[in-house]
Amino acid sequence: MSSPSVFRCIACADLSAAASQDFRCASCGDLLEITYPSWTQSKPDRARLKAVWRDRRASSRAVDLSGVWRFRELLPAIEADQRVITLREGNTPLYELPQCSRITGVAALFAKHQGMNPTGSFKDAGMTVAATFAKHAGFHWVACASTGNTSASMAAYAARGGMRSLVLVPAGKISWSKLSQALDYGAVTCQLRTDFDGCLELLQQLVRRARVYQLNSINPFRLEGQKTLAIELLEQLDWQPPDHIIVPGGNLGNSSAIGKALVEMLHLGLIPRLPRLSVIQAEGANPLVRSLREAAGKRLISVSPETRATAIRIGNPASWKKAANVLEASGGACEQVSEVEIAQAKAEIGAEGIGCEPASAVTLAGLKRLLKQGFVKPGETVVLVLTGSLLKDPDYTMDFHRGDLFEGTGDQQASNGLNSLRHPPIALDANLDAIIRTLEQAEES
Ligand code: F0G
Repeated sequence: MSSPSVFRCIACADLSAAASQDFRCASCGDLLEITYPSWTQSKPDRARLKAVWRDRRASSRAVDLSGVWRFRELLPAIEADQRVITLREGNTPLYELPQCSRITGVAALFAKHQGMNPTGSFKDAGMTVAATFAKHAGFHWVACASTGNTSASMAAYAARGGMRSLVLVPAGKISWSKLSQALDYGAVTCQLRTDFDGCLELLQQLVRRARVYQLNSINPFRLEGQKTLAIELLEQLDWQPPDHIIVPGGNLGNSSAIGKALVEMLHLGLIPRLPRLSVIQAEGANPLVRSLREAAGKRLISVSPETRATAIRIGNPASWKKAANVLEASGGACEQVSEVEIAQAKAEIGAEGIGCEPASAVTLAGLKRLLKQGFVKPGETVVLVLTGSLLKDPDYTMDFHRGDLFEGTGDQQASNGLNSLRHPPIALDANLDAIIRTLEQAEES
């Protein structure tokens, strides 16, 4: 039932059966995407697809247990005897957010939590596909530039697939949790004295010189895997599209992948209409916001990125054109949020008993802005895509609760309004009365 696929250039629409190592168009140099020519002549039977995907949840085969490969009819074909590299990614929960509903006034508010993937972020959905194709193509080395999550995920899938991995990360600008994952999974990890954009630039040069397979989201196989987030979400909503899906924007691969999935699902008749897909960036790392506002999306305005949400500390996003296209196709918005708004939203999502990393919390902060502008209405259904686990950045969380997050920054005063959300650890003597007093004080507060 899988469909044959080809590469298509997003700018000149050139089609090719194979792609070069940098995944750029041989004619014009722009990015490639994967497309399924047979869908224009005969579309897969949608009722059958939905039934097959549902039935696979009861299967015990690894390829069916994966929440990515379960949807393999919408992915590049794997051969019958080809083993997929899987850690049982996908199948992530869709949570209701009752407290955030009260805060925002949006009654139907959900979180699709991609932090519940095996390495704690949405990257796993793309990595299972791209790593499988790397292995199939006979590569021994895979590599990526990363703000942390891609490298953790790549290192895990490379190890599972018996490949070596090379990680390029900006020195001092990624969380220890993410870095420690790459180390434990056996990656060769280089901390470069540059930012993410500098790491990505060097990786692109490297793959032209060495036989190394690049696993950044420039790799279109990654985006095919990440598409399944949206397919699974729609399945969870009984194929009734929400009004809005809100996603963080960094290198802009994930928003591109979700948008591609939505457009494909509409084309295949799996959904009756497109939800609006909106992208939120941190104010200090806002190249897409600026490009859309100041250049009508015609050219990229790069920035020198700065944000404590280090996962999205990116100033020159590779997939900006793909993201701009899907925003336009779905009628979505692009907004930016401040560091204080991010910290508040992260604490509010934490208070739901769910939690996420700072980059994911921009979605809730962005929703509040979109509500104020009237772009989102309280009566509409909204899904926030939470991209990474709370455990990915414990330093941020500890700094927030101790009141240190904004120390020495211009945001210190503004952040005082968040005191009621802070729960710092309390140092006590090992004394029962002291504990009971603390309990009583907490009850009164
Ligand atoms: N949220 C988290 C937790 C991320 O790790 C990233 C990107 C994003 C959002 C943004 O997604 O780049 O597809 O727009 N992290 C990459 C990395 C860049 O290297 O881990 P995007």
